[in-house]
Amino acid sequence: MKKYFVVLFSVVVIAISGFEHTPQINSEEDKLSARVDSVLSLMTLDEKIGQLNQLSFGIGWGPTVKVAVPDEYKQQIREGKIGSFLNAIGAEFTYELQKVATQESRLKIPLIFGLDVIHGFKTTFPVPLGEAATWQPELVEMSAHYQALEAASAGIHWTFSPMVDIARDPRWGRIMEGSGEDPYLGSLMAAAHVRGYQGNLSNLNIIACVKHYAGYGGAEGGRDYNTVDFSERTFRDIYLPPYKAGVEAGAHTLMASFNEIGGIPASGSKYLLTDILRDEWNFKGFVVSDWNSIGEMINHGFASDLKHAGEISLNAGLDMDMESRSYLNHLKELVAEGKVKEAVIDESVRRILRIKFMLGLFDDPFRYCSKEREQKNIMTNEIKNASLDVAKRSFVLLKNGDNILPLKKDYKKIAVIGPLAKSKLDPLGEWNALGIEEDVTSVFEGLKKYVGDKSEILYAEGCKITDPSKDGFKEAIDKANDADVIILCVGESRSMSGEAYSRSSLDLPGVQEDLAKELLKTGKPIIAVLMNGRPLSVNWLNDNAEAILETWFAGTITGDAVAQVLFGEYNPSGKLPVTFPRTVGQVPIYYNHKNTGRPGNEKNRYTSKYLDLPLTPLYPFGYGLSYTTFNYSDVTLSNSKITNKDSLVVTVKVKNTGKYDGEEVVQLYVQDLVGSVTRPVKELKGFKKILLKSGEEKSVDFIIHEKDLRFTAADMKFKSEPGLFKVFVGTNSVDVLENKFELEE
Ligand code: NOJ
Repeated sequence: MKKYFVVLFSVVVIAISGFEHTPQINSEEDKLSARVDSVLSLMTLDEKIGQLNQLSFGIGWGPTVKVAVPDEYKQQIREGKIGSFLNAIGAEFTYELQKVATQESRLKIPLIFGLDVIHGFKTTFPVPLGEAATWQPELVEMSAHYQALEAASAGIHWTFSPMVDIARDPRWGRIMEGSGEDPYLGSLMAAAHVRGYQGNLSNLNIIACVKHYAGYGGAEGGRDYNTVDFSERTFRDIYLPPYKAGVEAGAHTLMASFNEIGGIPASGSKYLLTDILRDEWNFKGFVVSDWNSIGEMINHGFASDLKHAGEISLNAGLDMDMESRSYLNHLKELVAEGKVKEAVIDESVRRILRIKFMLGLFDDPFRYCSKEREQKNIMTNEIKNASLDVAKRSFVLLKNGDNILPLKKDYKKIAVIGPLAKSKLDPLGEWNALGIEEDVTSVFEGLKKYVGDKSEILYAEGCKITDPSKDGFKEAIDKANDADVIILCVGESRSMSGEAYSRSSLDLPGVQEDLAKELLKTGKPIIAVLMNGRPLSVNWLNDNAEAILETWFAGTITGDAVAQVLFGEYNPSGKLPVTFPRTVGQVPIYYNHKNTGRPGNEKNRYTSKYLDLPLTPLYPFGYGLSYTTFNYSDVTLSNSKITNKDSLVVTVKVKNTGKYDGEEVVQLYVQDLVGSVTRPVKELKGFKKILLKSGEEKSVDFIIHEKDLRFTAADMKFKSEPGLFKVFVGTNSVDVLENKFELEE
């Protein structure tokens, strides 16, 4: 017995230390697969199946930070039944688990630890929708890098992020976790996240997981988990690009989504998991299911039982089973029955082992488990400052009547009112990993700290977010009467967006608007600070508040960020990554819609519109004001024609015509006027965020290539078609200047 172990140990050591002497090995990838195969060749079928099994640590959902590993887990790890954990956190804790795997199991294969690090680990950054509102992919990359650094220092190898699902329906609560409605912006953000998390994996980076593949954001009625069904063309041109961008940026994993699409649950779709992902996109990493999404195929009516579900998913190309235990409990039998080939299991195991090698876990399984590093790298000033910077840049100024903002420094008394004014929990958003309230600066605290003893800050809660009670109104009105200006902090609680948190209304919940109406009667100007994870239909505020600042859920440093922006230390530069409807009845409403045969026209009865609503949204895609003003002029083209061999330069002049320095996101859209299939009225094709000093003018260039004009044509080929195009440049998707060019054959 002892001899067996010595022999086996030597084999494993040879296996994991590489096959430098084997001929025909000429690339890093070959070397890697040789190492992978050397481990695979030692594995029993049970051990292979174990690698495909991912369990959540602890009971139910939620991060667990413990050091004592219960015996039942130890036993399963020893037996090689678990390839990965989610929700096990902490340098010491993951060390304990890893020790069992790499010292007490037969083949000593390391575990891989995954966690939802969605917008922060301990230091919370703004929610992804807010990050997208920065329109600064490089900033988002930096943010992802810092989040990865904190998580990796606490034993985490893998984040279930980015969520790149395009969402055209703000009722869907998970819109908060993505980058909004646009495939171009969404693709840039997807790639930025992947680069930021993964770096080059040589340092303590973590691997990304592009999710939820695919089309999860298309849930009918905006109801989470609901059926998705759109045309292949819409799927390919609108929903698929961000996943592809994530893969092209090098994402090592993807997560299969809960939803069905066109009648096939994504977790059992060979078309998605093999034909598109591996054959079309050449994806080399592995796919994990969503939580029990394999088992849920029974409810979908696509699998008769858990065993059948496992058979479908594995054969479709889904490598790792999160939590359904279908693979663990049924794959062996399925192999014996000939329903699943061991070679298919081998392929999935290879993909998983390959990533474990790439993470360096075979060389040093404990490389992410340093207690000192954990203490050193978490919540450093550098990371907190980064989170403050991203927060400020994520804010979108929706209104600034009479230029009330930035706030004058000579207000004697400022009333900070509303259920979100002192909240330290809501700014964390729905995913907060280890982020805690105690570390958060509320808006109230941020303002108080900012003004010091120069102004008095009064506070009243006024009402709760959803509770109908108006008992707090009186105090709020009294405080407002006593103050020079009202900062009204209203919106949604953090538990009104995110997974399973869909809403049928986009209005301010509860009696918050009633509170605002009472406050208006005081005659004091209202500056609304919104917190929310989805577009809200804040029509009344738009008509009556002096100013509105959209802050999403901005994370740990919310209060400082809000204070610095309100007082003009940072001039807001965020732009909406998603359309804000006037009412839920307009949904779906998005900027890149089709023209229809009867484009909406208020004056013409037989056109596409509602009787009781204007055609326009409350705020369009790309919208966002600044404390200064920008004037656009002279959209010129380097040529009036292009071919697939050359390119076209679009130039626009932008001048800062106001009295503050400021940043502007200059946006470029095109419209393909006639196609073999109908084309959107506008498509975002480029943007540049530029800084202009007061009075300064700059020329901004965009280059258009033929490949930027491609789409899924009538023959289902992704290509461009010759003809006329309009080009639009402007400050948002509506206020634009235009010109025209022709694409020649
Ligand atoms: C379910 C969610 O849909 C997914 O986004 C998340 O990564 C997993 N649970 C794991 O927590």
